[in-house]
Amino acid sequence: MNRRNFLYSFSFSAAAAILSGCEKKSDKNAELESKSNEVQKAVQESPKEILNDRLEPFTQELKIPKEINFKHIAKAKFNAQKSLSALYKEKETDVLTFQGDLPNATIRIKKGDDFELDFTNSLEKPTIIHWHGLLVPETMDGHPKDAIATNMVKEYKYRVNQSAGTFWYHTHPHGRTGEEIYYGLAGLYIIEDENEKALNLPSGEFELPLIIQDRRFDKEGNLVYKETLQDNVGVLGDVVMVNSTPHPYKSVKNRKYRLRILNGSSARIYKLAFEGIEEFTLIGTDGGLLEEPVTVKDILIAVAERIDIIVDFKDKKVGDSVMLKTLGFKEGSNFGTNSDYPGFGAKMDIMKFQITELSNDTAVLPAKLTTIRRIKESDATKSRTITMEVIKGGIWTLNKKPYDMHRVDERVKLGSTEIWVLKNSVHMAHPFHMHGVQFQVLDRTGKIDFPTDKGWKDTVLVMPAETVRIIVKFTIPGMFVHHCHILEHEDHSMMANFLVE
Ligand code: C2O
Ligand code: CU
Ligand code: CU
Repeated sequence: MNRRNFLYSFSFSAAAAILSGCEKKSDKNAELESKSNEVQKAVQESPKEILNDRLEPFTQELKIPKEINFKHIAKAKFNAQKSLSALYKEKETDVLTFQGDLPNATIRIKKGDDFELDFTNSLEKPTIIHWHGLLVPETMDGHPKDAIATNMVKEYKYRVNQSAGTFWYHTHPHGRTGEEIYYGLAGLYIIEDENEKALNLPSGEFELPLIIQDRRFDKEGNLVYKETLQDNVGVLGDVVMVNSTPHPYKSVKNRKYRLRILNGSSARIYKLAFEGIEEFTLIGTDGGLLEEPVTVKDILIAVAERIDIIVDFKDKKVGDSVMLKTLGFKEGSNFGTNSDYPGFGAKMDIMKFQITELSNDTAVLPAKLTTIRRIKESDATKSRTITMEVIKGGIWTLNKKPYDMHRVDERVKLGSTEIWVLKNSVHMAHPFHMHGVQFQVLDRTGKIDFPTDKGWKDTVLVMPAETVRIIVKFTIPGMFVHHCHILEHEDHSMMANFLVE
């Protein structure tokens, strides 16, 4: 099967190439064809770094999720269902959604307000929604053991009681989280508060949510999940979607934008940078704002992590464009992956910002964003070690034990503070995630500096052969999970339960 050729044949340029023998090309076709030659050239120059030889990249406009804002409604409804969505231009593709189409809505809510949502499961198998990064009671968290059967309804109700930040939601059934997120069951969850409002950060059309997900499409234009055994290492795709739009473009003004970025991929770690803009500013991490903005040239974002950044297009003129890309992250894995797709080290273009309008934005970013109380090491009453290991049969585990959703792996005292020592003994980086808490990173043994370590985290990347120490205060009673957030690892047992009592 010639996977590589199909979607490409939808494009004008391919049509132009076919027709060119017998017909004079129109200017438009000629232009598109030369664009396509550029893509071909890029492919030839870096055979392992195929951008996209099946579609004309940057021809689809970035979709912006609609919002469910709890300022205007008291209760929302989600229904996990099979749907059709036009991801690849007009081609309708089988996906899973919460409200009928992709991208799923962004939830927006203010600190102190009540969140309420009725969730119906219209899938064939049990599932449950988890609010990633939120500090909610055990019964509201969406532990895999709480999955509801087909046609059942789960009523979520809780008060949002944490600082402003970018969070997300996704389903969390035991063993099928990877597949469900892959086909669409995820979205953003934004918390606002007064402190953040006073900062006057770019908002409205100047605040863009970007959910980055690499995907595979077959020759009919349908999404394809796992294909080979190698995919247990992690499913990597060759088409990068942002907000369910493959390689989109977005028209912008030459001013500051706030980008709330979520890596919603299965396994790929991105090293994000902007071509044509040297530096940008990190203002927030998983759990909310940093104390002060940090200037960076590029930034790593592992699966499930969020970064809140300010990028300034002020030096650009109308007609210029700026590419958001990943520089590749080969340090993330020595494991072989499905060779039909670009590996962990692949450089890829993600999306293009096109400057179409001038603006006279003069706003200055505040030097101080918030206060983060550092948890003192001396507050910790216990230290425990979690190891990341592969056991016989190629099973990914924590502490050598495959996941059992009813077994208590760690018992923690309610109200206590602990240091968790995360030890990665395999040659692959793992994003370690905990439910029910936001933690702080104390230190790491590796050489790479993570500016995101400065903020509140719920997911932290532990590099190959690295040990990372985090400090956590446990304030919510109940059973929660901690796991690797590479979706194929989590589904394949790299998960455990901790009970806070
Ligand atoms: Cu994104 Cu168990 O979570
Ligand atoms: Cu989570
Ligand atoms: Cu892992």
